[in-house]
Amino acid sequence: MSVGIHTPVAGIDNWSPSSWRDRPALHQPYWPDKAELEQATKALEDLPPLVFAGESRSLMSHLGRVANGEAFLLQAGDCAESFDSSADSIRDKLRVILQMAIVLTYSSGVPLVKVGRIAGQFAKPRSSPTETKGAVELTSFLGHMVNDIGFSEAERLPDPRRLLTAYHRAASTLNLLRAFTRGGYADLSRVASWNRQFVATSPAGRRYARMAEDIDRALRFMTACGVTNINTPQLHEVEFYTSHEALVLDYEEALTREDSTSGGWYDCSAHMLWIGERTRQLDGAHVEFLRGVRNPLGCKVGPTAAAEEILALCETLNPQRVPGRLTLITRMGADKVETLLPPLLRAVRDSGHPVAWACDPMHGNTYTSESGRKTRHFDHVLAEISGFFAAHAACGTWPGGVHVELTGDAVTECVGGADDISHEDLEQAFETLCDPRLNGRQSVDLAFRVAEMLSDSR
Ligand code: PEP
Ligand code: CO
Repeated sequence: MSVGIHTPVAGIDNWSPSSWRDRPALHQPYWPDKAELEQATKALEDLPPLVFAGESRSLMSHLGRVANGEAFLLQAGDCAESFDSSADSIRDKLRVILQMAIVLTYSSGVPLVKVGRIAGQFAKPRSSPTETKGAVELTSFLGHMVNDIGFSEAERLPDPRRLLTAYHRAASTLNLLRAFTRGGYADLSRVASWNRQFVATSPAGRRYARMAEDIDRALRFMTACGVTNINTPQLHEVEFYTSHEALVLDYEEALTREDSTSGGWYDCSAHMLWIGERTRQLDGAHVEFLRGVRNPLGCKVGPTAAAEEILALCETLNPQRVPGRLTLITRMGADKVETLLPPLLRAVRDSGHPVAWACDPMHGNTYTSESGRKTRHFDHVLAEISGFFAAHAACGTWPGGVHVELTGDAVTECVGGADDISHEDLEQAFETLCDPRLNGRQSVDLAFRVAEMLSDSR
């Protein structure tokens, strides 16, 4: 294998796209029909890559700037994408992410790296492998890549043909995203006008009138200086990257290709892949698989993580210490983040590992409402982000970004925030396939609140 400049896996021994098969692989579906599984993975191997190695390398260099404190990461999208997402729903998700990005760019004063949980986020680890209703026990819903959400034996049976559908859904989603981000839809002045609408139509939004007006003024100033769409593609186009949890390793392995330019292996199912909180065991299959591909990687870090464990993950996943290779996405819970995060930040800082730190304020703050709905409170989400900023300030490290679950659709899944959704409101439009997501207005509200925190800390 030839060796490029960024060679986080150069010299690693005993790795191949299938070496994970010798390790314990948690949260893998039980595929009843092995012949069908083999047929599906063989077919995937013959299909074109969804993303290109060069794009993953660009993202890695942007994330390198996040690790160095020179850029901010916004990673956002669905908890579990649906095979039935409409074009409008995909567009609206992108739109919300862009609206958040402009606010965060303005307030952070650094470039925003935009990464969607999109075009591949089709598989879920579940706390229980089965779900029981009355006397019936069936396989849990594991994401559309594996089975269907309806509660019948046929729908819950893991079906390997879904791996191929996942590929094709990811391809069509990505195609739409590329069209929207390159074709003028993402024009900065248009995004700013969407935010003006939010400010004008929501009581919560009025609080941000001043910031929205400041952003408009900055754009008018740039135009007056001759910075226009025509001479500055950055105003008109957006660099947008894809990511998902690399959970179902049969799928990820089948989309792993050797890059003809650098000679390294890339998992071409997305630009960035992350390892979930439940599958980050050092000797487990997921760490083994991902240490060998050269994509930028994320790893979730929950409240049980010990500093030595995190340092060992840094060594295994980023032995060459390449900035941007590894993003640690912490999800401690609002009440724990300020005690549990600083020891990890100090240990990593003192080891000299270049890590980009991002805050997932969703997964440590889920609770069950009285009506039995799994939900999250907007205020807890905000509180975890605030604690994340405080922890970084205390340790002199860079709070590099946020990682959120959202949709552009007008769902009622999380309580509080713009429009102050109540527990009773949850029944109106609780549509998620898995965890509760912020809706479009809550997401923009969140971005403005985080902007206030960023502005206060500068
Ligand atoms: C997720 O991001 O949807 C998820 C399952 O998170 P975690 O691995 O942090 O629990
Ligand atoms: Co989730």
